[in-house]
Amino acid sequence: MSQKILTGDRPTGSLHLGHYVGSLTQRVALQDTSSQTILIADMQGLTDNGHTPAKVSGNILNVLADYLAVGIDPERTVICLQSGLPALAELTMYYANLVTVSRLQRNPTVKAEIAGKQFGASIPAGFLSYPISQAADITAFRADLVPVGDDQLPMIELTNEVVRKVNQVAGSEVLVECRPLLSKVSRLPGVDGKAKMSKSLGNAITLGSDDAEIERAVKKMYTDPNHLRIEDPGSVEGNVVFTYLDAFCPDEALVTRLKEDYQRGGLADSKLKCLLTECLQGLLAPIRTRRARFLSDPAGLMAILRTGTEKARAETEETARKVKAAFGLDFFS
Ligand code: TRP
Repeated sequence: MSQKILTGDRPTGSLHLGHYVGSLTQRVALQDTSSQTILIADMQGLTDNGHTPAKVSGNILNVLADYLAVGIDPERTVICLQSGLPALAELTMYYANLVTVSRLQRNPTVKAEIAGKQFGASIPAGFLSYPISQAADITAFRADLVPVGDDQLPMIELTNEVVRKVNQVAGSEVLVECRPLLSKVSRLPGVDGKAKMSKSLGNAITLGSDDAEIERAVKKMYTDPNHLRIEDPGSVEGNVVFTYLDAFCPDEALVTRLKEDYQRGGLADSKLKCLLTECLQGLLAPIRTRRARFLSDPAGLMAILRTGTEKARAETEETARKVKAAFGLDFFS
């Protein structure tokens, strides 16, 4: 049986190189072998932007243009908008009755995010419960495979708990369980060496970056703080420039040689950074051009999103109808 894949992003900023290595290349490859749906999760984006909604609405087309620019093909991948699929909100409402508040508070991802966002005592109810809405997204499409970063594993776990509870209430297999598909590439650190590239941390290189922005970002990239003089031996471990060369320089033999030279001493950081700058400029130039072309036609982008959302609608409504029936509330259907 072919795999049914659901994945998505909150549109709270343009996508960056971390997305590129972590999920975008994987999605491009998967569209040949699987039935794939990508959800632009604008309602989930609102869960920490309720008072700054333009940050979400203003980034939907940016994210769509990013997808198309890297080669996600709307003919082979359904790209849809969460707010255009009210059945997802309906499912969330039903599932919320099967998940306890303490279960949500224990979710390690949500816990870390709450700490990072400094909500204090003002955690939006929507934010605390976004894992429930994510379970609705996944189950609505009957997805059995969900490509995720390791930070999203608790979402899959909660989704499968909801699936089992709904099936128990229904007395039949109304929903299907899913499994995570972890990307082979580990997470790309930010240019500052912090564990995660993130636009909000200011350490990201977005897919629309121009040559000068790329050069500037690489210049401030973290290397080996003890590599003071060119002739000193340098460390490759934890050296962000090498992490990026591993991820983006197609000439593996060259990178291996550079690592040896660097560790021996005599190779300047500036040489490495020059090479990396060229690699990234070469990678992003065609993506940036395509991205700009798509963004110059917002109506065309909107049409693509509308078509994808229409394609997704029947499936989500069918799942909502079954779940409603499982709770015995299918009076008008
Ligand atoms: N939580 C994901 C993010 O942080 C976005 C998302 C929403 C998602 N619904 C999903 C991912 C369903 C995978 C499956 O960007």
